[in-house]
Amino acid sequence: MTPLQETIINKKTTSSPIWLMRQAGRYLPEFREIRKLNPNFIKLCLNENLSSEITLQPLKRFNLDAAIIFSDILMLPYGLNQKVEFKKNFGPKLGDLNLEEISKIEEIDFLEKLYPVYKSINKVSKNNLIKNKDLIGFVGAPWTLLVYMINKHSPKKNLIKKFFKDKFLINKILIILEKFLKIHIEQQVKNGATIIQIFDSWAGLLKEKNLPNYVYIPTLNLVEYIKSLNIPVICFPRGIKNYKFFCEIVKPDVINIDYNTNPVSISKEIKIPVQGGLDPKILLSDKKNLKKETIKFLNIFKDHPYIFNLGHGVVPETDPNMVEYLVKTVKDY
Ligand code: CP3
Repeated sequence: MTPLQETIINKKTTSSPIWLMRQAGRYLPEFREIRKLNPNFIKLCLNENLSSEITLQPLKRFNLDAAIIFSDILMLPYGLNQKVEFKKNFGPKLGDLNLEEISKIEEIDFLEKLYPVYKSINKVSKNNLIKNKDLIGFVGAPWTLLVYMINKHSPKKNLIKKFFKDKFLINKILIILEKFLKIHIEQQVKNGATIIQIFDSWAGLLKEKNLPNYVYIPTLNLVEYIKSLNIPVICFPRGIKNYKFFCEIVKPDVINIDYNTNPVSISKEIKIPVQGGLDPKILLSDKKNLKKETIKFLNIFKDHPYIFNLGHGVVPETDPNMVEYLVKTVKDY
């Protein structure tokens, strides 16, 4: 069994496996080199040779226990024929959402557009570097994808005022998302993904009364689907205030916590395996502080099945030596 599966399935507590969100990305010079020659991010994700190479870059450097496929949650709206671009210093920019167009998409056309993503997963799964390690596939949660599809760029702190105005549109999109997210997950698993993580980066924008309709129910549908494929599922409803309640309703195999969450309360309240929590900005400090904060998390989760990770992705300013030191600290614990 792989180290992550030992933690997730056997609830092993004697050591913590480690991988990092955004472990392949701009903090690595070898990634920046490829990126410089490939200014179109979507095209880069659809280049199976390069995306599989990028996926493996962090495993060549560090003693990590999993790879996460180099792709993006916004490949899904791209597969549904909504325009998606990544602008420098701006982030993602989506085109207008045309319900009529999106309602007409057939599975076969969607699969044809995203085929290179699955080929890339397949390639990585056959590489020696992934032996006895997990290959993490992922999707954006329906809510977070809905936010991008309607808002058309990252929301800052709030949703646009008229976000909930067209309930008919929202409900239609959620139904379409559920169908195609299941297809996207199935293909990732068929091609070698051994765990699925669901990113709900904007769960924290919702008022409590709206969580059931937009977060709990749509995510539960996906979680049950992933379980039916016999694959573990990790949920990351970032910024949600009540992780305990989320776990009771949605029942993921693992819950990833964000860096504003108190890990001590989580270790007491939540029984299922936990992942993440460390503030990615700690990697921008010094080794002494990084060690102190890392050990703090390892001590808190000493008797809990725990997968070491961050409370959000590695930031581009991170020194790769600090990542190496983090991995070593976790492995030496
Ligand atoms: O974690 C990994 O290493 C795997 C690859 C991965 C990417 N995006 C690559 C990426 C994963 C899992 C994602 C998920 C993702 N994408 C999320 C959920 C997690 C989170 O960050 O909250 C979201 C919200 C997105 C949408 C997205 N993609 C944004 C907001 C941005 C711009 C922000 C930024 O960092 O520039 C992206 C672009 C993106 N996705 C990059 C990478 C490596 C940077 C692209 C570049 O090189 O310019």
